[in-house]
Amino acid sequence: MWDLGVEGGTLVTRMGLIRANLYVQGEKLGAISVERQRSHRSLDARERLVLPGVIDTHLHSRDPGLTYKEDFDHATRAAAFGGVTTVLEMPNCLPPVTDLGSFEARRAHLLPQAHVDFGLWALALGDANLAELPRLAAAGACGFKLFWGYALDRRTLALVYNPAPDDDVVPPPDDAGLLRLMDAVQATGRPLAIHAEHRGLNAALIAGVDPDAPDTYAEFLRTRPALTEAVAVETACRLAQATGVALHIVHLTAADSVDVIRAARARGVDVTAETCPQYITLSDEDFPRVGPLMKVYPPVRTVADQSALRRGLADGTIAYVASDHAPHATHEKQGSLWTAPAGTPVVETMLPLFLRLVSQGVFTLEDVARLLSYAPARRFGLYPRKGALEPGSDADLVIVNPDHPWTIRAAAAHSKHPLSPWEGETVPMAVETTVVRGQVVVADGELQTPGAGTFLRFGAPLS
Ligand code: NCD
Ligand code: ZN
Ligand code: ZN
Repeated sequence: MWDLGVEGGTLVTRMGLIRANLYVQGEKLGAISVERQRSHRSLDARERLVLPGVIDTHLHSRDPGLTYKEDFDHATRAAAFGGVTTVLEMPNCLPPVTDLGSFEARRAHLLPQAHVDFGLWALALGDANLAELPRLAAAGACGFKLFWGYALDRRTLALVYNPAPDDDVVPPPDDAGLLRLMDAVQATGRPLAIHAEHRGLNAALIAGVDPDAPDTYAEFLRTRPALTEAVAVETACRLAQATGVALHIVHLTAADSVDVIRAARARGVDVTAETCPQYITLSDEDFPRVGPLMKVYPPVRTVADQSALRRGLADGTIAYVASDHAPHATHEKQGSLWTAPAGTPVVETMLPLFLRLVSQGVFTLEDVARLLSYAPARRFGLYPRKGALEPGSDADLVIVNPDHPWTIRAAAAHSKHPLSPWEGETVPMAVETTVVRGQVVVADGELQTPGAGTFLRFGAPLS
């Protein structure tokens, strides 16, 4: 007798669609069978799609420290309602995760609030915390994150979004510092994730802006052009090639950078890249409608960039999609494009937006299983424990109604602030049920099992 059956649905795998029932024993998927079997509890998935739970490797919950923007309870609740069953949490909370003490404190602080499974990134400062990296890896950090392109506040190590010339900041490492960092990360065996924007170029372009100039999106894009991303990605790929580090470029935005990644991968460099829903569904043309809510770093660019990113995902140059869920308070995202902090809430709408791209013929359902679950799981060593509907894997799955159009309303969503760059847009399919390790976390529009998430200690045997 199985614990749970998911019956009558169409299973979406990266290899194709299968009409079959799923059976769960405890936390694991036990069987996929065309025949019905007996189970204590059953979920009716007739006329529904059953997808592997989404793995979001790029989430900023702000917790602890900046919880007026978002917190882990809200972020993982939003994740669960969006069909996301695993999140990898970014280290730029306050205090940031820079050493073993802050890592362990954060793990303990987040665990009781976790509605989905989670792993933790550690912050790479460059030389300032090189010696801590082995300890952070041993504690189970999923990887190291370098915010290359931001300055950090010298006192708090918070990201400085719009640095003024006289701010007291720690600049990001120079190329030689990055080489040392890559050697140190390579020795841990974990990936190095890089926010790739060339700070020197950005700073020079921003310094050239007339403070009285209108804050148009075109002017904003001129201060952070594709060039600054492509140069940073190229440098990172070359240094990764020299050191052998596993390099992951977060939130790729520019057609030029797709070309850089394609060439590096062809040379055999161990580099992967992600892009995000905002870059493949929005463009500069949306700014008059959406406003500063779509201000993110690096910026949303042109329709031509959007097309190149979509092609990069389709042909495997870009490995997968992550949310870069980075909420700010409502008042912070109003007003000037220059002064608003960068970042916007995404995690709850990521899968629905992707399903809309499927209905528009841009991607297939198999692509969704690959780009939102399997490929991120592969890159972080989570597969086969996670990332696919396979016997023996964790029972992480999402039931989607493929014939249920609904309108995105941030006020009805689950992040702390009711904001969405996709407010009022209609998507054709709805996430109905989310199961995390066999526990029904979301069903019937309610959070059924609060606190179901567990901490994923990377590096330990994960199955
Ligand atoms: C992120 C944030 O606010 O933490 N903002 C953003 O615009 N993407 C930081 C980041 O991912 O660069
Ligand atoms: Zn970033
Ligand atoms: Zn981010």
